[in-house]
Amino acid sequence: QTDPDLTTQLLAWYDRHARVMPWRVSPADRAAGLRPDPYRVWLSEVMLQQTTVAAVKDYFHRFTARWPTVTELAAAEDAAVMGEWAGLGYYARARNLLKCARAVVADHGGLFPDSRAGLLTLPGIGPYTASAIAAIAFDEAATVVDGNVERVMSRMFLVETPLPAAKPGLVALAGRLTSLDRPGDHAQAVMDLGATICTPRNPACGICPWTHACAARAAGMQAELPRKTPK
Ligand code: ADE
Repeated sequence: QTDPDLTTQLLAWYDRHARVMPWRVSPADRAAGLRPDPYRVWLSEVMLQQTTVAAVKDYFHRFTARWPTVTELAAAEDAAVMGEWAGLGYYARARNLLKCARAVVADHGGLFPDSRAGLLTLPGIGPYTASAIAAIAFDEAATVVDGNVERVMSRMFLVETPLPAAKPGLVALAGRLTSLDRPGDHAQAVMDLGATICTPRNPACGICPWTHACAARAAGMQAELPRKTPK
């Protein structure tokens, strides 16, 4: 199922070029046995929905300084959380954040469920977020597909079906490449690849670890993909 060469090449690239983010664990810390904190992974993934990494970083630092654990966040006043959220937008996310934190404390003893299926039972956690936390925090072989990953897969496999109709097919293709060995690093590596190399415009194919296997690149069509159905 998995293509071991592509996975190995991507992870080797990620080990050298992973973006530094406050919710990630550095390769050195990882080698020493440190794992990402599910609370920080969850918080970052909720903040990153519809907000850029650059904009999220300061908010993430303020939230985790004020509420270092999900138990502390669950005990916060609603108004305090809404106040810290101000400026991030999509305020339903902040309300769901608190609901979820309180469910983790009330129903799970303050520990996030350690599987995709368990995470899906929490309020405000949908398929994307459950897959992302399961892969990144618990190394479950869940396939994580955001807009970056859709673009990478549409180019790698030259998928000309427009989005959103192409989505289920792209998820299946992404699943074929998912690393069983390091699913969390793999998920973040594909997102980093899409954010820094396989960009919407002027992708940097010359330095891409997957350029040799990319069907769009071979056909000179990378700039045209993914196609989108006009709204
Ligand atoms: N976008 C959403 N989650 C991300 C992550 N963990 N790494 C990089 N980009 C992301």
